[in-house]
Amino acid sequence: MDLVYLNGRLMPKDEARISIEDRGYQFADGIYEVIYVWGGHFAFLDRHLERLVRSARALDLEIPGGVDRVRREAEELLLRDGRELGSLYLQITRGVAPREHAFPERVTPTVVMYLKAGKAPGPELRQAVDAITLPDERWLRCDVKSVSLLPNILARQRAVTAGAREGILIRSGIVTECTSANVFGVVDGTLRTHPLSPLILGGITRGVVLEEARRLGIPTLEEPMLAQDLFRADELFYTGTTSHVQPIGRVDGREISQAAGEITTRLQDAYFQRLAADTGRAVGDRS
Ligand code: PDD
Repeated sequence: MDLVYLNGRLMPKDEARISIEDRGYQFADGIYEVIYVWGGHFAFLDRHLERLVRSARALDLEIPGGVDRVRREAEELLLRDGRELGSLYLQITRGVAPREHAFPERVTPTVVMYLKAGKAPGPELRQAVDAITLPDERWLRCDVKSVSLLPNILARQRAVTAGAREGILIRSGIVTECTSANVFGVVDGTLRTHPLSPLILGGITRGVVLEEARRLGIPTLEEPMLAQDLFRADELFYTGTTSHVQPIGRVDGREISQAAGEITTRLQDAYFQRLAADTGRAVGDRS
């Protein structure tokens, strides 16, 4: 039975109900996190909760009971759910109040958590997928993990309609990120990705991959790539909690590489080791 955590209670998914006047539903007034689960453990939980707190502050949103309560209740949900592999979806919206743009005076935020099935990182991640470039039409606080994802989903749908897996977003000629992942390139032997700024989400996977690149001595530059750099890159990949480290083979139909390149492969291996270590799995065990 699929369990849902809603405002302090665990219940079967089909019993969870949220009011039509929840501000998440009417205004997308809320934040979320997606946390990977492997071997029955959360991966990089502290980092996700730190980002949740930053997102909440940016929206002046109170986390009911504080982030420690969210942590305890997420652990409890995972235990009761019994799932070994997948991801936790966690969402906090401002709560239920008569529709009015300004914040209601007294409102209790709505907290929802549930687990989704997922796959262990496997050999298919060595294969490259197609991407297309698209204009980045999002707001200027992309560092906030807000549930307001309309430009992201529209861009992703355009990519899917074009037969690609991801959309690489371009703002004023600069590569920002993908529709739900951060993007990296290896250009002239240097690993490049957009620096932390309000123009991108500071991905947890991005952070771990950068740490591993530095540890491995791979030259790394957190500076934006220009859109045309995509086509002179030797390797391109994107990173995210559920996509891990995914090589990109073609951009707008132009070939970059047929499979994961050398640096991408080293970073994938290093990332999976960190993932395994953080979730208490034996290195090399990809079951
Ligand atoms: N998306 N950039 C955007 C716009 C994202 O939505 C995500 C994650 C990332 C990668 O962040 P992280 O490494 O912390 O997962 C970057 C999640 C997985 C989602 O919306 O499902």
